[in-house]
Amino acid sequence: MEVVGFKRMADGSREDYEFLGEMERKFVDGLPDRILTQLRLLSESFSGYPVSRLEHSLQSATRAHRAEETEEMVVAALVHDIGDVLAPMSHSEMAASILRPFVSEKTYWIIKYHGLFQMYYYAHHLGGDRNARARFAEHRWYNDAVRFCEEYDQNCFDPEYDSEPLEFFEPMLRRLFRHENASDDNMVSRV
Ligand SMILES: [Fe+2]
Ligand SMILES: [Fe+2]
Repeated sequence: MEVVGFKRMADGSREDYEFLGEMERKFVDGLPDRILTQLRLLSESFSGYPVSRLEHSLQSATRAHRAEETEEMVVAALVHDIGDVLAPMSHSEMAASILRPFVSEKTYWIIKYHGLFQMYYYAHHLGGDRNARARFAEHRWYNDAVRFCEEYDQNCFDPEYDSEPLEFFEPMLRRLFRHENASDDNMVSRV
């Protein structure tokens, strides 16, 4: 079989869906390569900062690595702004969604809300509420998200910092985004 015969999903057979499942597994194997490609695109996003978004991401991951965070957190730091290219207004959620099947609930939560927590550093200059994150003050991961922004995000715009290159993180990224590590709740949300 090269392609399934149905034109409406309702007409597909078990054999069709097993075949498509196999094709999808092969496609998902290419996910780390696509994430790496997308990270490289960050070198062109958002001007005006002292460093590119790619350098910011490398700095974030490098600081997390040097602070001996888990590999999961290092890779999460690396991709935390990957949504900036396609979802500039909701980038945290996009990165969190990409990570979700491969990381703990805690890491997912930190990345999902890092944009809101990060407002603490600038929103008051623009008439916004820098304490918007206070609504999560009682949350079990509140302090973790505060710390992520303080140590691995707001401080990662230093052109002098000696970040590791993307290649340094590639093996970690490939280990994290392995199909076998993925939780299967994407099974229900896929279509
Ligand atoms: Fe961000
Ligand atoms: Fe960031």
